[in-house]
Amino acid sequence: MHVVVIGAGIVGLLTALELRRRGHEVEVRSTGVAEGATHAAAGMLAPAAEVQVGQGPLWGIMREAALAHRRLAARLPELTREFSRPATARSAGYRDDPTLVVGRDHADLAALHDLAVLQRRAGAEVQELLPREARRLEPALARGIAGAVRIGSDHQVDPRTLARTVVAALEAHGVRLRIGAVPGLDAVPADRIVLAAGLGAPAIAGPHQQLDLALRPVRGDILRLRVPSSLLMPGEEHLLTGTVRAIVRGRAVYCVPRDGGGIVLGATSREDTLQGPSTGGVLQLIQDSAEILPSIRETELVEVTARDRPGTPDDLPLLGPVPGHEQVIVSTGYHRHGILLSAWAAERTADIIDGRDASLPAAVRPERFTKEPA
Ligand code: GLY
Repeated sequence: MHVVVIGAGIVGLLTALELRRRGHEVEVRSTGVAEGATHAAAGMLAPAAEVQVGQGPLWGIMREAALAHRRLAARLPELTREFSRPATARSAGYRDDPTLVVGRDHADLAALHDLAVLQRRAGAEVQELLPREARRLEPALARGIAGAVRIGSDHQVDPRTLARTVVAALEAHGVRLRIGAVPGLDAVPADRIVLAAGLGAPAIAGPHQQLDLALRPVRGDILRLRVPSSLLMPGEEHLLTGTVRAIVRGRAVYCVPRDGGGIVLGATSREDTLQGPSTGGVLQLIQDSAEILPSIRETELVEVTARDRPGTPDDLPLLGPVPGHEQVIVSTGYHRHGILLSAWAAERTADIIDGRDASLPAAVRPERFTKEPA
């Protein structure tokens, strides 16, 4: 089929790649490439650490999504065989080192242990650690932490590196990226259209506008740091060996190490009227992370970014055909899990187009917030 994907965030890009891999003729149309939430995201693939009370239907999707990323990582060398040096999982930003979640004080640790019950119920292997055991794994941790849990199955991918790799793979496979104003869907000739335009989806003219997608922006502030070599012991390559998340007096913070000595520090979650980064949000991230990793204070602050996540009322994505207009498939609302869910979204969307959509959970249908006409 001839499929047009609207939107070139990580969901749109991976969807285009999966459709092309399955033999469809694909075109991507977007106002920009990986400039929205993908540009900000830390890229944690955290089906366990991000389990929350009351989000049960999401847990299974998150677990499947982590497996979809593993499949994608394994396919990358084949998908990029035309490159002068085919991509590997690692060169495309994928890292499978474990995640440590730290409790700053005893109430934080108790909250972590309560969460561990849910995480185990969701299928994760979670190991409780004493402070000295956690510090043996991550020597940069502060002495005063109350304890930690280690989650072997929560990994990460660098979204910017992955997006660049996918764009190059799309170009190598003849997928055209048309960057500029996106017309109404009536003016887009295609057998199928995938609307993966994030928060921009409702403003694009088309049959999905009959639906109440109930999307709302949930802004996150995120910092990028550089670790100077003066902070490293002889033989050390990085301040952190893997992702360190923490609860600090009830607030969540995460520090994600990048190849090359970077750290991504995030992230707030706000629904205020500020357009750019929030001063209070940045202060909170630095203060909370410095309680867990004191040497953060001596890193170089290289970037402060704020972007909106596309939130939905039930925190589940919006994925599926528009009823009565099955040629248009909505794929948005990935909220706090856009990077994690992207590879899953790509596979499920291609399944819908290939008529194999039995695996799609009814809980993600895009019409679920739309009231019946009177
Ligand atoms: N999943 C991380 C965040 O939304 O901040």
